[in-house]
Amino acid sequence: MSFNLRNRSLLALKDFSPRDIRYLLDMAADLKRSKYAGTEQQRLKGKNVALIFEKSSTRTRCSFEVAMHDQGGHVTYLDSAGSHIGRTESLKDTARVLGRLFDGIEYRGFHQSAVEELARFSHVPIWNGLTDEWHPTQILADLFTMEEFGEKPLHDLSLCYLGDASFNMGCSLLIGATKMGMDFRIAAPPALQPPVALVTEMRALAVSTGAKITIEADPLKAVAGADFLYTDVWVSMGEPDDLWKQRIDALLPYQVSTALMRATGKPRTRFMHCLPSLHNLDTEVGRQLHERFGLTACEVTDEVFESEAAIVFTQAENRMHTIKAVLVAMLA
Ligand code: CP
Ligand code: NVA
Repeated sequence: MSFNLRNRSLLALKDFSPRDIRYLLDMAADLKRSKYAGTEQQRLKGKNVALIFEKSSTRTRCSFEVAMHDQGGHVTYLDSAGSHIGRTESLKDTARVLGRLFDGIEYRGFHQSAVEELARFSHVPIWNGLTDEWHPTQILADLFTMEEFGEKPLHDLSLCYLGDASFNMGCSLLIGATKMGMDFRIAAPPALQPPVALVTEMRALAVSTGAKITIEADPLKAVAGADFLYTDVWVSMGEPDDLWKQRIDALLPYQVSTALMRATGKPRTRFMHCLPSLHNLDTEVGRQLHERFGLTACEVTDEVFESEAAIVFTQAENRMHTIKAVLVAMLA
């Protein structure tokens, strides 16, 4: 190998070349195969990783924990309630303490500046487990999953993201898909499209990667010919609850329904979602939204979510294999 990712941090996918991403996806495939075959080699024995979560998590936390355990390493979980972070100890001081104790730190929180501050002061690799701006480890799992199901290289596949494209998921997918040369479409109303500066930067990058970027307000036009439809919650963690009314009004036409899946014109189009998803009334928030607005589902109908086309649980599993690749590549 003429390059390696040892001691790198993963703060944003922007900082990673297509070759770096390819390396991580290939390593994730090897790790997934070896776990299934029972031949996994433990390469993180004696390594300690801190997991900081200032927002809730099911998949990201469990993926880091299982990946470290499989590789023979250890984790310590910290959240805002059970530690001093932010209340009596600044992030800068926390970074300097944890950097003395741990080999690497995962951080999930609000502003990207926080994860950057941790990287600046801890002197150990930092992995962004989601900020308002980016969700890079999710995108690695998504690229990996599309390759598994697409039966073609990423640069021959098309992905359409629908819904709130102005937050972490829409913006991060734009970067990941552009880097890997995909045909990437966004279906969102103008107010919820990615920032113009990011789109301009990605369009410039697309010239060298061969990616095709379409930003479209009409969902029917955007999904035509797409191999994958992808959506995310309409109001993200940390956003105010009073956004729901305006988001529902703006995003209902982008709800992934059976009709929209058919509008791709491809019988084998798959449905993707980073999860968690509000697709029925089995959750507290789902029931509250039903009471307030009469909705039985938000960003995706239950019919699509429960259909054969949905690959969301493979995506969730692949969080672990791809996060393991990140840990092994940067720490082993
Ligand atoms: N997709 C994702 O990041 O899930 P969690 O919030 O459960 O970690
Ligand atoms: N946009 C969502 C992603 C969750 C994985 C959020 O930030 O809440």
